[in-house]
Amino acid sequence: MTKMWAGRFESELDTLADDFNSSISFDSRMYRQDITGSIAHAAMLGKQGIITPKESEAIISELGNILSDLDSGKLKIDLSCEDIHMFVEQVLTERIGDLGKKLHTARSRNDQVAVDIRMYLRDETAIIADLIKKLISAICDKAEEGCEMIMPGYTHLQRAQPITFGHHVMAYAMMFSRDLGRLSDALKRMNLSPLGSCALAGTTYDTDRFHTAQALGFDGPCLNSIDGVSDRDFCLELMSAFSVIMMHLSRFCEEIILWSSWEFKFIELDDAYTTGSSIMPQKKNPDMAELIRGKTGRVYGDLFALLTVLKGLPLAYNKDMQEDKEAIFDSIDNVKMCLEVFTPMLSTAKLLPDNMMAAVQKGFINATDLADYLVKKGLPFRSAYKITGQIVARCIADSKVLDNLELSVYKSYSELFEEDLYSFIDPMVCVKKRISFGGTSPDNVRMQIEKTREALK
Ligand code: ARG
Repeated sequence: MTKMWAGRFESELDTLADDFNSSISFDSRMYRQDITGSIAHAAMLGKQGIITPKESEAIISELGNILSDLDSGKLKIDLSCEDIHMFVEQVLTERIGDLGKKLHTARSRNDQVAVDIRMYLRDETAIIADLIKKLISAICDKAEEGCEMIMPGYTHLQRAQPITFGHHVMAYAMMFSRDLGRLSDALKRMNLSPLGSCALAGTTYDTDRFHTAQALGFDGPCLNSIDGVSDRDFCLELMSAFSVIMMHLSRFCEEIILWSSWEFKFIELDDAYTTGSSIMPQKKNPDMAELIRGKTGRVYGDLFALLTVLKGLPLAYNKDMQEDKEAIFDSIDNVKMCLEVFTPMLSTAKLLPDNMMAAVQKGFINATDLADYLVKKGLPFRSAYKITGQIVARCIADSKVLDNLELSVYKSYSELFEEDLYSFIDPMVCVKKRISFGGTSPDNVRMQIEKTREALK
């Protein structure tokens, strides 16, 4: 096929090189943004008298037809075109003749592709933010369900202190709330229009970049045309925000995998989100959680791929930059898919509070509270800590736990111990006493849920 840039060239591009060069197989997903950008550009050309108002109207109306024909499937993308920009212009010219060739006045594919990606990312980021909001709301619901369920809190994956399940999962709601903030920060910086930067230096035509920027929902045009066509910081910022989202999902998945193992059995995943084994009939595997954990590596990889592509590029546009799209598209697709699977997997998981409690009763998880008991009776914390340590050692030797060690034995370590120590170290009491702001008491967790739900509105 004769290329749009034929003129300077004597022979055709080699077939393999043509395939290699082409991006339409992946950038065609931006057809809506490409056509929307072209409509704004054509309107500006007409308003400025660069083409006549009639010409502008004819171009805009046919671009509208092309968009609806693509939406309805009546028009199929021609994969022999180099990219989506060439395809749309080619169809336009086939349909309205030479007039179609005027659309590309005062524009280059360099600013065209830069504006397309920004608009595409804006749309996709809104979808991802919405999915995160749904996830946060599902976490709040689960936290409410587990508000009074006591489980061991861990440090170093060693049982540390009793907490509520609600408190534990609300920590993830905090993470995902920050993720929402990161996305909106990135969007703010990204929302400037490169359209009208042209190839790199701007143009001699009397264009109005403020007009196209406004028509396309940008906060204004970007200030430097060279930067306009060569900046991909916004891709990197979004991909790093996506990487953090995946890291959060992956940590949560890791816990879900642990919790659904026989060793913990704090939760049971719904059949809809687990798989069996081809050989071991007893198995119920948390494949979805594992896959999300696995795909996290891939999203990190996308970020690193683009960082590496960009690091040696001289200004302004270089074809290397076409590599931005597969990386960012892959990370968007994966983040979306993972969020879509994770949220219902969490919502449908069954909580098993008896098993959580059984784990609480092992592991001397109320040892800090026992030390606090002595402190309340006037002992300095360090001395109380030491006595408690000795009592724990004694329990281990006698195969006992703090809750069933006799008072007479306690008294042999300190005369301050009385009968009331047993209620003091009761796990529910331990949890209810942790009323410091942000702590694990059920009332505190209810406050966190309420504030988080409020912020989602
Ligand atoms: N497909 C190209 C890309 O994605 C569009 C820009 C082409 N510009 C150029 N000067 N060859 O980067």
